[in-house]
Amino acid sequence: MNKDRKLIIAGNWKMNKTVAEALDLVNGLKRELLSVKEVDLVVCPPFTALSEVSKAILDSNLRLGAQDMSEHPPGAYTGEIAAVMLKEFSVRYVIVGHSERRQYHAETDAVIAAKAAAAHGAALKPIVCIGETLKERETGRTELVLETQVKGSLAGLSKSQMEETVLAYEPVWAIGTGRTATADQAQAAHAFIRRVLAGVFDDTVARRVRIQYGGSVKPANARELMSLPDVDGALVGGASLEIRSFTDIVKNSI
Ligand code: 13P
Repeated sequence: MNKDRKLIIAGNWKMNKTVAEALDLVNGLKRELLSVKEVDLVVCPPFTALSEVSKAILDSNLRLGAQDMSEHPPGAYTGEIAAVMLKEFSVRYVIVGHSERRQYHAETDAVIAAKAAAAHGAALKPIVCIGETLKERETGRTELVLETQVKGSLAGLSKSQMEETVLAYEPVWAIGTGRTATADQAQAAHAFIRRVLAGVFDDTVARRVRIQYGGSVKPANARELMSLPDVDGALVGGASLEIRSFTDIVKNSI
């Protein structure tokens, strides 16, 4: 694949996997994906499995991601996890603003921007998620929503921080539904997001930022999606929970 930007494929395990199950999965991935150098590979287990998974992947090409973090430094925030706590387990990436957090935990663009800034403050790379709902798409508001989310969720980042940020375009209607965006829909959205980045930051930043696609990515559609000019990787949910399907997604993307 001939793209300036290195592909980044991440598995978002969501609220799945006990520690034992997480180790089975990650040990299998480690074995199957041993020789992959062309793609940055990231696994994002639940918080409870970070410690063990971190040890299991020490000598591998897999990198560790978390699924969320607090925008606050350590303190009186019951139930929350601070960036410095993730650093203890050699976490490199952290998903912020996933649509499930926006939807079920009322996370706003302002909160997400604060999380992205706090991640950079701790030298973690945020994977910032954006994407429109079905209703927003059907009423012709996709671009307006994406532009608002890009501007709001990345507010305050410097150019160099932005270059170290990964964006994930995840149309909400494609998440867990088996309904993937068509190649045309995905490419159009990614190209639009890049244009917005050029306006907010500059052309160089826009050219360098990696934008993942997420939403029902499977082995069968990975090749077509990953070959699109403005798609630089995938954020995989359901298909990242099995050794075979995640491995095949990665191998079909190379
Ligand atoms: P699915 O791959 O299960 O559609 O989930 C996508 C997602 O939300 C990844 O963050």
